[in-house]
Amino acid sequence: MPCGPPGPSAPPGEHRRSRHYLSTTVKETPVTLPASPTAPAWWRHAAIYQIYLRSFADGNGDGMGDLAGVRERIPYLRDLGVDALWFNPWYVSPMADGGYDVADYRDIDPMFGTLAEAEQLIVEAHEQDLRVIVDLVPNHASDQHPWFRAALAAGPDAAERERFWFLPGRGADGELPPNDWQSYFGGAAWTRITEADGTPGAWYLHMFAPEQPDLNWEHPQVRAEFESILRFWLERGVDGFRIDVAHGLAKKPGLPDVGRDPDVTDLPYQDCDAVHEIYRDWRKIADGYARSPRPGGAPGERVFVGEVWLPTPEQFARYLRPDELHSAFNFEFLCCAWDAAGLRDVIDGTLASHRLVGAPPTWVLSNHDTIRHVTRYGREDTSFDMGDKRLGSPSDTVLGRRRARAAALLTLALPGGVYVYQGDELGLAEVEDIPDHLIQDPTYARSEGRDRGRDGCRVPLPWSAEPRSLGFSPDGASAGPWLPQPADWSGRSVAAQQGDPHSELALYRAGLALRGERLQWLPETLEWVDAGPGTVAFRRDNGFQCVVNLSAEPVALPAGLRVLLASGPLEDGLLPSDTCVWLIAE
Ligand code: GLC
Repeated sequence: MPCGPPGPSAPPGEHRRSRHYLSTTVKETPVTLPASPTAPAWWRHAAIYQIYLRSFADGNGDGMGDLAGVRERIPYLRDLGVDALWFNPWYVSPMADGGYDVADYRDIDPMFGTLAEAEQLIVEAHEQDLRVIVDLVPNHASDQHPWFRAALAAGPDAAERERFWFLPGRGADGELPPNDWQSYFGGAAWTRITEADGTPGAWYLHMFAPEQPDLNWEHPQVRAEFESILRFWLERGVDGFRIDVAHGLAKKPGLPDVGRDPDVTDLPYQDCDAVHEIYRDWRKIADGYARSPRPGGAPGERVFVGEVWLPTPEQFARYLRPDELHSAFNFEFLCCAWDAAGLRDVIDGTLASHRLVGAPPTWVLSNHDTIRHVTRYGREDTSFDMGDKRLGSPSDTVLGRRRARAAALLTLALPGGVYVYQGDELGLAEVEDIPDHLIQDPTYARSEGRDRGRDGCRVPLPWSAEPRSLGFSPDGASAGPWLPQPADWSGRSVAAQQGDPHSELALYRAGLALRGERLQWLPETLEWVDAGPGTVAFRRDNGFQCVVNLSAEPVALPAGLRVLLASGPLEDGLLPSDTCVWLIAE
Protein backbone atom coordinates (compact mmCIF):
# COMPACT_ATOMS: atom_id res chain seq x y z
CA MET A 1 0.00 0.00 0.00
CA PRO A 2 2.06 2.95 -1.18
CA CYS A 3 1.39 5.79 1.16
CA GLY A 4 4.69 7.60 1.11
CA PRO A 5 4.89 11.32 0.98
CA PRO A 6 4.88 13.09 -2.35
CA GLY A 7 8.05 14.12 -4.15
CA PRO A 8 11.21 15.88 -3.01
CA SER A 9 9.71 19.07 -1.84
CA ALA A 10 9.76 21.19 1.26
CA PRO A 11 7.23 23.76 2.29
CA PRO A 12 8.50 27.33 2.26
CA GLY A 13 10.46 28.18 5.36
CA GLU A 14 11.33 24.59 6.17
CA HIS A 15 15.02 24.91 5.21
CA ARG A 16 15.87 26.70 8.38
CA ARG A 17 18.79 24.70 9.66
CA SER A 18 22.08 26.40 10.37
CA ARG A 19 24.64 25.81 7.66
CA HIS A 20 27.80 26.10 9.73
CA TYR A 21 28.70 22.45 9.87
CA LEU A 22 32.36 21.79 10.19
CA SER A 23 33.21 18.52 8.52
CA THR A 24 36.20 18.87 6.24
CA THR A 25 34.64 16.57 3.69
CA VAL A 26 31.66 18.82 3.03
CA LYS A 27 31.73 21.07 0.01
CA GLU A 28 28.16 22.17 0.08
CA THR A 29 26.26 24.23 -2.43
CA PRO A 30 22.80 25.46 -1.51
CA VAL A 31 19.95 23.45 -3.00
CA THR A 32 16.68 24.92 -4.02
CA LEU A 33 13.84 22.49 -3.67
CA PRO A 34 10.45 23.18 -5.16
CA ALA A 35 7.90 24.26 -2.59
CA SER A 36 4.87 22.03 -2.31
CA PRO A 37 1.65 22.55 -0.41
CA THR A 38 1.47 18.79 0.15
CA ALA A 39 4.81 18.22 1.86
CA PRO A 40 4.91 15.20 4.16
CA ALA A 41 3.94 15.70 7.77
CA TRP A 42 6.85 16.65 10.02
CA TRP A 43 6.81 13.41 11.96
CA ARG A 44 7.37 11.24 8.89
CA HIS A 45 10.97 12.33 8.61
CA ALA A 46 11.84 14.07 11.88
CA ALA A 47 15.23 13.75 13.59
CA ILE A 48 14.29 13.40 17.24
CA TYR A 49 16.76 13.94 20.07
CA GLN A 50 16.12 11.98 23.25
CA ILE A 51 16.71 13.87 26.48
CA TYR A 52 17.19 11.77 29.59
CA LEU A 53 16.54 14.79 31.79
CA ARG A 54 18.36 13.64 34.87
CA SER A 55 21.59 13.34 32.91
CA PHE A 56 21.41 16.08 30.27
CA ALA A 57 22.36 19.28 32.11
CA ASP A 58 22.01 20.48 35.69
CA GLY A 59 20.80 24.06 35.99
CA ASN A 60 20.39 24.38 39.77
CA GLY A 61 23.57 22.68 40.95
CA ASP A 62 22.12 19.70 42.80
CA GLY A 63 23.92 17.16 40.63
CA MET A 64 20.77 16.13 38.74
CA GLY A 65 19.79 17.32 35.30
CA ASP A 66 16.71 19.54 35.14
CA LEU A 67 14.53 21.76 32.97
CA ALA A 68 16.67 24.82 33.70
CA GLY A 69 19.66 22.93 32.30
CA VAL A 70 17.78 22.08 29.11
CA ARG A 71 16.53 25.64 28.66
CA GLU A 72 20.10 26.94 28.78
CA ARG A 73 21.11 24.50 26.10
CA ILE A 74 18.32 24.94 23.60
CA PRO A 75 20.78 26.78 21.31
CA TYR A 76 23.02 23.69 21.39
CA LEU A 77 20.08 21.50 20.34
CA ARG A 78 19.02 23.91 17.63
CA ASP A 79 22.57 24.04 16.24
CA LEU A 80 22.81 20.28 16.31
CA GLY A 81 20.05 20.34 13.72
CA VAL A 82 17.39 18.06 15.18
CA ASP A 83 13.68 18.69 14.65
CA ALA A 84 12.20 17.55 17.94
CA LEU A 85 13.06 16.69 21.54
CA TRP A 86 11.69 13.65 23.34
CA PHE A 87 11.81 13.97 27.10
CA ASN A 88 11.92 10.86 29.28
CA PRO A 89 9.30 11.18 32.07
CA TRP A 90 9.45 14.50 33.88
CA TYR A 91 6.46 13.94 36.15
CA VAL A 92 6.27 13.77 39.93
CA SER A 93 7.80 10.43 40.85
CA PRO A 94 9.53 8.66 43.73
CA MET A 95 12.08 7.65 41.03
CA ALA A 96 11.98 3.93 41.75
CA ASP A 97 12.54 3.45 38.01
CA GLY A 98 14.02 6.71 36.77
CA GLY A 99 10.64 8.44 36.64
CA TYR A 100 8.76 5.57 34.93
CA ASP A 101 6.83 5.30 38.20
CA VAL A 102 4.55 8.31 37.99
CA ALA A 103 2.76 9.67 41.05
CA ASP A 104 1.23 12.73 39.34
CA TYR A 105 0.88 12.84 35.57
CA ARG A 106 -0.03 16.52 35.55
CA ASP A 107 2.93 18.02 37.34
CA ILE A 108 6.72 18.13 37.11
CA ASP A 109 8.91 16.45 39.67
CA PRO A 110 10.59 19.09 41.87
CA MET A 111 13.92 17.47 41.00
CA PHE A 112 13.40 18.72 37.46
CA GLY A 113 11.61 22.03 38.07
CA THR A 114 8.05 23.27 37.91
CA LEU A 115 5.08 23.03 35.58
CA ALA A 116 5.54 26.70 34.73
CA GLU A 117 9.11 25.97 33.65
CA ALA A 118 7.96 23.08 31.48
CA GLU A 119 5.41 25.36 29.84
CA GLN A 120 8.12 27.93 29.27
CA LEU A 121 10.45 25.32 27.85
CA ILE A 122 7.81 24.22 25.34
CA VAL A 123 7.43 27.81 24.17
CA GLU A 124 11.19 28.37 23.96
CA ALA A 125 11.74 25.13 22.06
CA HIS A 126 9.04 26.09 19.57
CA GLU A 127 10.66 29.48 19.10
CA GLN A 128 13.74 27.60 17.89
CA ASP A 129 11.71 25.29 15.63
CA LEU A 130 12.12 22.36 17.99
CA ARG A 131 9.05 20.28 18.68
CA VAL A 132 8.46 18.66 22.04
CA ILE A 133 7.46 15.05 22.67
CA VAL A 134 6.75 13.91 26.22
CA ASP A 135 6.85 10.40 27.60
CA LEU A 136 3.51 8.95 28.66
CA VAL A 137 3.54 5.97 31.03
CA PRO A 138 0.08 4.36 30.83
CA ASN A 139 0.84 0.72 31.62
CA HIS A 140 1.54 1.35 35.28
CA ALA A 141 1.58 4.11 37.85
CA SER A 142 3.70 4.60 40.96
CA ASP A 143 2.78 2.85 44.17
CA GLN A 144 2.68 6.41 45.53
CA HIS A 145 0.00 7.48 43.04
CA PRO A 146 -3.15 8.60 44.91
CA TRP A 147 -5.15 5.83 43.24
CA PHE A 148 -2.85 3.11 44.50
CA ARG A 149 -2.68 4.58 47.98
CA ALA A 150 -6.45 4.73 48.00
CA ALA A 151 -6.60 1.13 46.80
CA LEU A 152 -4.42 -0.04 49.68
CA ALA A 153 -6.33 2.01 52.23
CA ALA A 154 -9.75 0.94 51.01
CA GLY A 155 -9.41 -2.72 51.94
CA PRO A 156 -10.32 -6.02 50.26
CA ASP A 157 -12.94 -5.97 47.49
CA ALA A 158 -13.15 -2.16 47.48
CA ALA A 159 -13.94 -0.43 44.19
CA GLU A 160 -10.69 1.54 44.55
CA ARG A 161 -8.76 -1.66 43.91
CA GLU A 162 -10.42 -2.26 40.55
CA ARG A 163 -8.28 0.34 38.80
CA PHE A 164 -5.32 -2.01 39.31
CA TRP A 165 -5.01 -5.80 39.21
CA PHE A 166 -5.62 -7.03 42.75
CA LEU A 167 -6.31 -10.75 42.92
CA PRO A 168 -6.39 -13.39 45.63
CA GLY A 169 -3.40 -15.70 45.72
CA ARG A 170 -3.45 -19.39 44.91
CA GLY A 171 -2.70 -22.17 47.38
CA ALA A 172 -4.47 -23.08 50.61
CA ASP A 173 -3.84 -19.68 52.21
CA GLY A 174 -3.42 -17.58 49.10
CA GLU A 175 0.31 -17.78 49.60
CA LEU A 176 1.08 -18.27 45.89
CA PRO A 177 0.84 -15.56 43.22
CA PRO A 178 -2.38 -15.55 41.15
CA ASN A 179 -0.52 -16.70 38.02
CA ASP A 180 2.96 -17.53 36.77
CA TRP A 181 3.83 -14.20 35.11
CA GLN A 182 7.36 -12.93 35.58
CA SER A 183 8.30 -9.26 35.84
CA TYR A 184 10.39 -7.83 32.98
CA PHE A 185 12.80 -6.78 35.72
CA GLY A 186 13.11 -10.30 37.15
CA GLY A 187 11.17 -12.18 39.81
CA ALA A 188 7.42 -12.67 40.09
CA ALA A 189 5.15 -10.04 38.56
CA TRP A 190 3.00 -10.10 41.71
CA THR A 191 3.46 -8.71 45.21
CA ARG A 192 1.28 -9.62 48.15
CA ILE A 193 0.05 -6.82 50.34
CA THR A 194 -0.51 -6.76 54.05
CA GLU A 195 -3.98 -5.52 54.92
CA ALA A 196 -4.56 -2.78 57.50
CA ASP A 197 -5.29 -5.38 60.18
CA GLY A 198 -1.88 -6.99 59.64
CA THR A 199 -3.13 -10.08 57.79
CA PRO A 200 -1.63 -11.13 54.45
CA GLY A 201 -3.95 -9.94 51.72
CA ALA A 202 -4.40 -9.89 47.96
CA TRP A 203 -1.66 -9.75 45.34
CA TYR A 204 -1.23 -6.95 42.82
CA LEU A 205 0.30 -7.14 39.37
CA HIS A 206 3.44 -5.24 38.38
CA MET A 207 5.09 -6.22 35.12
CA PHE A 208 8.07 -4.07 36.17
CA ALA A 209 9.14 -3.19 39.75
CA PRO A 210 6.75 -3.63 42.71
CA GLU A 211 6.70 0.18 42.91
CA GLN A 212 5.02 0.19 39.46
CA PRO A 213 1.56 -1.41 39.83
CA ASP A 214 -0.08 -2.16 36.47
CA LEU A 215 -3.24 -0.24 35.73
CA ASN A 216 -6.38 -2.10 34.72
CA TRP A 217 -7.24 -0.81 31.27
CA GLU A 218 -10.61 -2.55 31.37
CA HIS A 219 -11.69 0.06 33.90
CA PRO A 220 -13.46 3.08 32.36
CA GLN A 221 -11.90 5.47 34.87
CA VAL A 222 -8.41 4.46 33.73
CA ARG A 223 -9.33 5.20 30.13
CA ALA A 224 -10.98 8.50 30.99
CA GLU A 225 -8.06 9.56 33.15
CA PHE A 226 -5.48 9.05 30.41
CA GLU A 227 -7.60 10.81 27.84
CA SER A 228 -7.72 13.73 30.22
CA ILE A 229 -3.94 13.56 30.74
CA LEU A 230 -3.41 13.62 27.00
CA ARG A 231 -5.54 16.73 26.73
CA PHE A 232 -3.74 18.34 29.66
CA TRP A 233 -0.40 18.20 27.83
CA LEU A 234 -1.85 18.92 24.40
CA GLU A 235 -3.34 22.09 25.86
CA ARG A 236 0.20 23.00 26.93
CA GLY A 237 1.40 22.76 23.36
CA VAL A 238 3.26 19.45 23.26
CA ASP A 239 3.67 18.00 19.79
CA GLY A 240 3.41 14.39 20.76
CA PHE A 241 3.80 11.50 23.15
CA ARG A 242 6.18 8.61 23.37
CA ILE A 243 4.07 5.74 24.67
CA ASP A 244 5.89 3.62 27.23
CA VAL A 245 5.36 -0.15 26.90
CA ALA A 246 2.76 0.51 24.21
CA HIS A 247 2.23 -3.21 23.60
CA GLY A 248 1.41 -3.97 27.23
CA LEU A 249 -1.64 -2.03 28.41
CA ALA A 250 -4.31 -4.64 27.71
CA LYS A 251 -4.11 -8.06 29.35
CA LYS A 252 -5.73 -11.29 28.19
CA PRO A 253 -9.10 -11.73 29.96
CA GLY A 254 -8.78 -13.94 33.02
CA LEU A 255 -5.00 -13.39 33.21
CA PRO A 256 -4.17 -16.99 32.28
CA ASP A 257 -0.83 -18.63 33.09
CA VAL A 258 1.91 -18.32 30.52
CA GLY A 259 2.91 -21.92 31.00
CA ARG A 260 6.10 -23.63 29.89
CA ASP A 261 7.48 -22.96 26.42
CA PRO A 262 4.87 -20.35 25.60
CA ASP A 263 4.22 -19.08 22.10
CA VAL A 264 6.00 -15.71 22.31
CA THR A 265 3.64 -14.24 19.75
CA ASP A 266 0.68 -14.92 22.02
CA LEU A 267 1.59 -13.93 25.56
CA PRO A 268 -1.28 -12.97 27.86
CA TYR A 269 0.36 -9.72 29.00
CA GLN A 270 1.31 -8.15 25.71
CA ASP A 271 -0.14 -7.37 22.32
CA CYS A 272 -3.70 -8.23 23.34
CA ASP A 273 -6.22 -7.02 20.79
CA ALA A 274 -7.95 -4.60 23.15
CA VAL A 275 -4.88 -2.36 23.17
CA HIS A 276 -5.66 -1.19 19.65
CA GLU A 277 -9.02 0.27 20.71
CA ILE A 278 -7.19 2.48 23.17
CA TYR A 279 -4.95 3.91 20.48
CA ARG A 280 -7.86 4.49 18.12
CA ASP A 281 -9.51 6.61 20.79
CA TRP A 282 -6.29 8.50 21.47
CA ARG A 283 -5.69 9.14 17.81
CA LYS A 284 -9.02 10.95 17.56
CA ILE A 285 -7.99 13.18 20.44
CA ALA A 286 -4.58 14.01 18.96
CA ASP A 287 -6.08 14.66 15.55
CA GLY A 288 -8.41 17.17 17.14
CA TYR A 289 -5.41 19.30 18.08
CA ALA A 290 -3.60 19.10 14.76
CA ARG A 291 -4.84 22.31 13.28
CA SER A 292 -5.69 24.31 16.33
CA PRO A 293 -2.44 25.12 18.10
CA ARG A 294 -2.82 26.28 21.66
CA PRO A 295 -0.83 29.23 23.01
CA GLY A 296 2.82 28.31 22.64
CA GLY A 297 1.94 25.41 20.37
CA ALA A 298 3.27 24.86 16.89
CA PRO A 299 1.12 24.12 13.86
CA GLY A 300 1.05 20.55 12.60
CA GLU A 301 -0.02 17.16 13.73
CA ARG A 302 0.29 15.85 17.27
CA VAL A 303 1.83 12.42 17.25
CA PHE A 304 2.25 9.16 19.10
CA VAL A 305 5.49 7.22 19.04
CA GLY A 306 5.16 3.72 20.41
CA GLU A 307 7.66 1.77 22.43
CA VAL A 308 6.60 -1.52 20.88
CA TRP A 309 8.84 -4.52 21.55
CA LEU A 310 7.20 -7.47 19.76
CA PRO A 311 8.56 -10.57 18.07
CA THR A 312 7.07 -10.24 14.59
CA PRO A 313 6.87 -7.36 12.10
CA GLU A 314 3.20 -8.16 11.52
CA GLN A 315 2.34 -7.65 15.19
CA PHE A 316 4.42 -4.47 15.25
CA ALA A 317 2.83 -3.01 12.13
CA ARG A 318 -0.69 -3.29 13.55
CA TYR A 319 0.17 -0.47 15.99
CA LEU A 320 0.93 1.79 13.05
CA ARG A 321 -2.33 1.48 11.17
CA PRO A 322 -3.54 4.87 9.95
CA ASP A 323 -5.96 5.35 12.85
CA GLU A 324 -3.54 4.26 15.61
CA LEU A 325 0.00 5.35 16.51
CA HIS A 326 1.97 7.45 14.04
CA SER A 327 5.31 5.73 14.43
CA ALA A 328 7.31 3.40 16.66
CA PHE A 329 10.93 2.70 17.51
CA ASN A 330 12.67 0.24 15.24
CA PHE A 331 14.21 -2.06 17.84
CA GLU A 332 14.98 -4.72 15.27
CA PHE A 333 17.47 -2.31 13.75
CA LEU A 334 18.88 -1.41 17.18
CA CYS A 335 19.36 -5.11 17.99
CA CYS A 336 20.96 -5.97 14.64
CA ALA A 337 24.66 -6.87 14.55
CA TRP A 338 27.20 -4.88 12.55
CA ASP A 339 26.84 -7.13 9.56
CA ALA A 340 26.03 -6.11 5.99
CA ALA A 341 23.61 -8.91 5.14
CA GLY A 342 21.86 -8.63 8.50
CA LEU A 343 21.45 -4.88 8.22
CA ARG A 344 20.17 -5.09 4.67
CA ASP A 345 17.61 -7.67 5.75
CA VAL A 346 16.43 -5.54 8.65
CA ILE A 347 16.18 -2.46 6.44
CA ASP A 348 14.23 -4.38 3.80
CA GLY A 349 11.96 -5.89 6.43
CA THR A 350 11.40 -2.52 8.03
CA LEU A 351 10.46 -0.84 4.77
CA ALA A 352 8.13 -3.71 3.86
CA SER A 353 6.31 -3.86 7.19
CA HIS A 354 5.85 -0.09 7.38
CA ARG A 355 4.68 0.09 3.78
CA LEU A 356 1.90 -2.33 4.67
CA VAL A 357 0.30 0.27 6.90
CA GLY A 358 1.64 3.45 5.31
CA ALA A 359 3.76 4.38 8.33
CA PRO A 360 7.21 5.94 8.13
CA PRO A 361 10.12 3.75 9.18
CA THR A 362 12.35 4.91 12.04
CA TRP A 363 15.99 4.24 12.87
CA VAL A 364 17.50 4.08 16.31
CA LEU A 365 20.91 2.96 17.56
CA SER A 366 20.74 3.51 21.33
CA ASN A 367 18.43 4.68 24.07
CA HIS A 368 18.26 4.92 27.85
CA ASP A 369 17.50 1.17 28.19
CA THR A 370 20.20 -0.25 25.95
CA ILE A 371 23.99 -0.35 25.65
CA ARG A 372 25.62 2.64 24.03
CA HIS A 373 26.37 1.47 20.51
CA VAL A 374 30.02 2.59 20.61
CA THR A 375 30.53 -0.21 23.13
CA ARG A 376 28.24 -2.67 21.42
CA TYR A 377 29.91 -2.25 18.03
CA GLY A 378 33.34 -2.79 19.59
CA ARG A 379 32.46 -6.23 20.93
CA GLU A 380 32.87 -9.58 19.29
CA ASP A 381 29.09 -9.98 19.33
CA THR A 382 27.77 -6.65 18.05
CA SER A 383 24.07 -7.45 18.41
CA PHE A 384 21.92 -6.22 21.29
CA ASP A 385 19.75 -8.37 23.50
CA MET A 386 17.69 -6.82 26.29
CA GLY A 387 17.77 -10.10 28.21
CA ASP A 388 21.56 -10.39 28.13
CA LYS A 389 23.27 -7.04 27.82
CA ARG A 390 26.71 -8.67 28.12
CA LEU A 391 27.95 -5.80 30.24
CA GLY A 392 31.64 -6.07 30.88
CA SER A 393 32.39 -8.26 27.88
CA PRO A 394 35.48 -6.85 26.11
CA SER A 395 34.94 -3.98 23.73
CA ASP A 396 37.39 -2.25 21.42
CA THR A 397 35.86 1.20 21.66
CA VAL A 398 38.16 2.67 19.00
CA LEU A 399 36.67 0.18 16.55
CA GLY A 400 33.23 0.66 18.07
CA ARG A 401 33.42 4.41 17.63
CA ARG A 402 34.52 4.09 14.03
CA ARG A 403 31.52 1.88 13.35
CA ALA A 404 29.25 4.17 15.35
CA ARG A 405 30.24 7.08 13.11
CA ALA A 406 29.42 5.00 10.04
CA ALA A 407 26.15 3.84 11.58
CA ALA A 408 25.19 7.43 12.36
CA LEU A 409 25.46 8.40 8.71
CA LEU A 410 23.63 5.24 7.69
CA THR A 411 20.66 6.04 9.93
CA LEU A 412 20.59 9.66 8.83
CA ALA A 413 20.53 8.59 5.17
CA LEU A 414 17.67 6.12 5.42
CA PRO A 415 14.09 7.16 4.63
CA GLY A 416 11.82 8.00 7.57
CA GLY A 417 12.48 9.28 11.08
CA VAL A 418 15.66 9.00 13.13
CA TYR A 419 16.42 9.11 16.84
CA VAL A 420 19.57 10.45 18.48
CA TYR A 421 20.05 9.54 22.12
CA GLN A 422 21.81 12.25 24.10
CA GLY A 423 25.55 11.61 23.97
CA ASP A 424 25.40 9.69 20.66
CA GLU A 425 26.52 12.92 19.07
CA LEU A 426 29.58 12.94 21.36
CA GLY A 427 30.52 9.32 20.64
CA LEU A 428 30.07 8.33 24.29
CA ALA A 429 30.68 4.72 25.27
CA GLU A 430 28.81 2.73 27.92
CA VAL A 431 30.18 3.32 31.41
CA GLU A 432 30.77 -0.20 32.70
CA ASP A 433 32.62 0.44 35.94
CA ILE A 434 30.01 2.22 38.05
CA PRO A 435 30.70 1.01 41.61
CA ASP A 436 28.05 -1.41 42.87
CA HIS A 437 26.92 0.85 45.70
CA LEU A 438 26.17 3.71 43.30
CA ILE A 439 24.01 1.70 40.89
CA GLN A 440 20.44 3.01 40.93
CA ASP A 441 18.66 1.04 38.24
CA PRO A 442 16.14 -1.33 39.88
CA THR A 443 17.01 -4.12 37.47
CA TYR A 444 20.32 -4.53 39.34
CA ALA A 445 18.68 -5.37 42.67
CA ARG A 446 15.76 -7.25 41.11
CA SER A 447 18.15 -9.55 39.24
CA GLU A 448 20.30 -9.97 42.37
CA GLY A 449 23.20 -8.35 40.57
CA ARG A 450 23.14 -10.60 37.50
CA ASP A 451 22.10 -7.65 35.35
CA ARG A 452 24.10 -4.51 36.17
CA GLY A 453 21.29 -2.51 34.68
CA ARG A 454 21.04 0.58 32.53
CA ASP A 455 22.90 3.23 34.48
CA GLY A 456 25.92 2.91 32.19
CA CYS A 457 24.11 4.68 29.36
CA ARG A 458 22.61 7.29 31.70
CA VAL A 459 25.78 8.94 33.00
CA PRO A 460 25.58 12.76 33.02
CA LEU A 461 26.81 14.39 29.83
CA PRO A 462 30.23 16.09 29.63
CA TRP A 463 29.93 19.70 28.53
CA SER A 464 33.44 21.00 29.30
CA ALA A 465 36.74 20.12 30.97
CA GLU A 466 35.63 21.58 34.32
CA PRO A 467 36.97 18.96 36.76
CA ARG A 468 34.06 18.39 39.15
CA SER A 469 31.21 17.57 36.78
CA LEU A 470 32.65 18.19 33.30
CA GLY A 471 30.38 21.20 33.03
CA PHE A 472 27.23 19.16 33.73
CA SER A 473 26.50 21.31 36.81
CA PRO A 474 27.11 25.03 37.22
CA ASP A 475 30.09 26.39 39.15
CA GLY A 476 29.56 26.18 42.89
CA ALA A 477 27.17 23.22 42.63
CA SER A 478 26.12 21.78 45.98
CA ALA A 479 26.56 18.18 44.82
CA GLY A 480 28.52 16.18 42.28
CA PRO A 481 26.83 14.41 39.35
CA TRP A 482 24.39 11.70 40.43
CA LEU A 483 26.45 9.06 38.64
CA PRO A 484 30.24 9.30 38.33
CA GLN A 485 31.60 10.37 34.95
CA PRO A 486 34.72 8.71 33.49
CA ALA A 487 37.75 11.02 33.75
CA ASP A 488 38.55 10.67 30.06
CA TRP A 489 35.19 12.13 29.11
CA SER A 490 36.63 15.65 29.29
CA GLY A 491 38.14 14.92 25.86
CA ARG A 492 34.65 13.95 24.64
CA SER A 493 32.93 17.04 26.01
CA VAL A 494 30.92 19.42 23.88
CA ALA A 495 33.59 22.10 24.43
CA ALA A 496 36.36 19.75 23.31
CA GLN A 497 34.48 18.70 20.18
CA GLN A 498 32.96 22.05 19.29
CA GLY A 499 35.89 23.35 17.26
CA ASP A 500 37.17 20.00 15.97
CA PRO A 501 36.03 19.34 12.40
CA HIS A 502 36.75 15.62 12.80
CA SER A 503 34.73 15.19 15.98
CA GLU A 504 31.53 13.16 16.37
CA LEU A 505 29.72 16.40 17.10
CA ALA A 506 30.86 17.90 13.81
CA LEU A 507 29.82 14.72 11.99
CA TYR A 508 26.33 14.77 13.49
CA ARG A 509 25.89 18.46 12.76
CA ALA A 510 26.99 18.00 9.18
CA GLY A 511 24.87 14.89 8.71
CA LEU A 512 21.75 16.41 10.21
CA ALA A 513 22.12 19.61 8.19
CA LEU A 514 22.60 17.77 4.90
CA ARG A 515 19.76 15.42 5.74
CA GLY A 516 17.50 18.41 6.32
CA GLU A 517 18.44 19.96 3.03
CA ARG A 518 18.63 16.99 0.73
CA LEU A 519 16.92 13.92 2.15
CA GLN A 520 14.06 14.72 4.48
CA TRP A 521 11.58 15.42 1.71
CA LEU A 522 12.34 12.51 -0.55
CA PRO A 523 9.92 9.61 -1.02
CA GLU A 524 10.27 6.98 1.69
CA THR A 525 11.97 4.52 -0.63
CA LEU A 526 15.47 3.40 -1.51
CA GLU A 527 17.06 1.34 -4.23
CA TRP A 528 19.86 -1.07 -3.34
CA VAL A 529 23.15 -0.62 -5.15
CA ASP A 530 25.77 -3.36 -5.48
CA ALA A 531 28.95 -1.86 -4.09
CA GLY A 532 30.65 -5.19 -3.43
CA PRO A 533 30.59 -7.88 -0.75
CA GLY A 534 30.23 -6.68 2.81
CA THR A 535 28.71 -3.34 1.87
CA VAL A 536 25.35 -1.72 2.46
CA ALA A 537 24.73 0.71 -0.38
CA PHE A 538 21.61 2.40 -1.64
CA ARG A 539 20.37 5.23 -3.74
CA ARG A 540 17.64 7.74 -2.85
CA ASP A 541 15.47 9.60 -5.31
CA ASN A 542 17.66 12.63 -6.01
CA GLY A 543 20.92 11.05 -7.12
CA PHE A 544 22.05 10.62 -3.53
CA GLN A 545 23.89 7.46 -2.57
CA CYS A 546 24.99 6.09 0.76
CA VAL A 547 27.67 3.40 0.91
CA VAL A 548 28.80 1.68 4.11
CA ASN A 549 31.74 -0.68 4.04
CA LEU A 550 31.40 -3.37 6.71
CA SER A 551 34.01 -5.65 5.15
CA ALA A 552 37.62 -5.89 6.28
CA GLU A 553 39.01 -4.44 3.01
CA PRO A 554 38.68 -1.01 1.39
CA VAL A 555 36.18 -0.87 -1.47
CA ALA A 556 36.00 1.29 -4.58
CA LEU A 557 33.40 4.04 -4.67
CA PRO A 558 30.77 4.14 -7.39
CA ALA A 559 32.11 6.21 -10.30
CA GLY A 560 31.03 9.71 -11.24
CA LEU A 561 29.71 10.85 -7.87
CA ARG A 562 30.82 13.68 -5.64
CA VAL A 563 31.52 13.08 -1.95
CA LEU A 564 29.16 15.01 0.29
CA LEU A 565 30.23 13.65 3.65
CA ALA A 566 32.13 10.69 5.05
CA SER A 567 32.35 9.21 8.52
CA GLY A 568 36.15 8.95 8.22
CA PRO A 569 38.92 9.75 5.77
CA LEU A 570 38.91 7.99 2.41
CA GLU A 571 42.16 6.21 1.44
CA ASP A 572 43.38 6.84 -2.10
CA GLY A 573 39.81 7.30 -3.22
CA LEU A 574 38.75 4.00 -1.61
CA LEU A 575 36.21 3.59 1.17
CA PRO A 576 38.00 2.01 4.15
CA SER A 577 36.53 -0.66 6.39
CA ASP A 578 33.78 0.45 8.82
CA THR A 579 33.29 3.75 7.05
CA CYS A 580 30.22 5.35 5.47
CA VAL A 581 30.18 7.87 2.67
CA TRP A 582 27.42 10.03 1.21
CA LEU A 583 27.68 10.73 -2.49
CA ILE A 584 25.72 12.85 -4.90
CA ALA A 585 25.38 12.73 -8.66
CA GLU A 586 25.95 16.21 -10.04
C1 GLC B 1 10.14 1.27 29.23
C2 GLC B 1 11.17 2.33 29.55
C3 GLC B 1 12.05 1.81 30.64
C4 GLC B 1 11.20 1.53 31.85
C5 GLC B 1 10.06 0.59 31.52
C6 GLC B 1 9.02 0.56 32.60
O1 GLC B 1 10.71 0.14 28.69
O2 GLC B 1 11.89 2.66 28.39
O3 GLC B 1 13.07 2.71 30.96
O4 GLC B 1 11.98 0.97 32.88
O5 GLC B 1 9.38 0.98 30.36
O6 GLC B 1 8.31 1.75 32.60
